[in-house]
Amino acid sequence: MNRTAALVPAAGRGERLGPGEPKALREISGVPILIYAVSVLASARSVDLVVVAAPPGDVESVSALLAQQSFSDKVSVVAGGDTRQESVARALIALPADVDVVLVHDAARPLVPVELVTAIVAAVRAGNPAVVPGLAVTDTIKEVNSDGDVLSTIDRNSLRAIQTPQGFDRELLQRAHAQLDESQGIFTDDAGLVEAMGITVKVIEGHIEAMKITRPFDLAIAETIIAKRRASGVIT
Ligand code: CTP
Ligand code: MG
Repeated sequence: MNRTAALVPAAGRGERLGPGEPKALREISGVPILIYAVSVLASARSVDLVVVAAPPGDVESVSALLAQQSFSDKVSVVAGGDTRQESVARALIALPADVDVVLVHDAARPLVPVELVTAIVAAVRAGNPAVVPGLAVTDTIKEVNSDGDVLSTIDRNSLRAIQTPQGFDRELLQRAHAQLDESQGIFTDDAGLVEAMGITVKVIEGHIEAMKITRPFDLAIAETIIAKRRASGVIT
């Protein structure tokens, strides 16, 4: 009863990272990105099971990789889709009936602290149907047109850069995925789907180490975070 599941969209190609294996299978300090992400979720006491949406051509190798890990009994693998939204939808379908809270966490955010995972679950269980981590924006953000001319400067105080894991009431997230498809807009996160249904999404304080690996430079930042953790005795 009342179990919490984490869905891990990991089926992207990582085009902005440059040529190579799918992003989730690239290594940071000798360990695949996906293993860091799944290990945090699987070791969180607030998470009961993890469903990974793997690149469709790599389901077997991802399953074999995860089967070698100490937390493998909590983890299952499905084939992801052509878009992130489809990958999440495919993982949602695989959930057992007794799951009532769902986290969605990008494989591309391998170094998320377990405390953030637990804080998101707690905020959903406290009665918020949708909860996301966010950080204040440090750059000045301007809206531009296709010629690169500035249209406006947006008040930075009201902006947040949104991370994952994002937490939801399971039934709400399922309804959002069933009702909205890509013809209704590009949804780059799951909270966007829920917002489109008119539901209020709660933002809690995110964490700088929940950064997303997008470009090669991000790999160097992640390596630095890992080196810092190892030096302070935190095993990753
Ligand atoms: N994702 C997914 N299925 C897709 C596309 C993306 O599961 N069809 C996942 C990625 O694996 C990643 C997360 O969604 O964990 C966030 O996407 P992004 O950072 O854009 O990763 P990629 O799509 O792999 O990168 P790029 O856009 O540079 O190709
Ligand atoms: Mg992408």
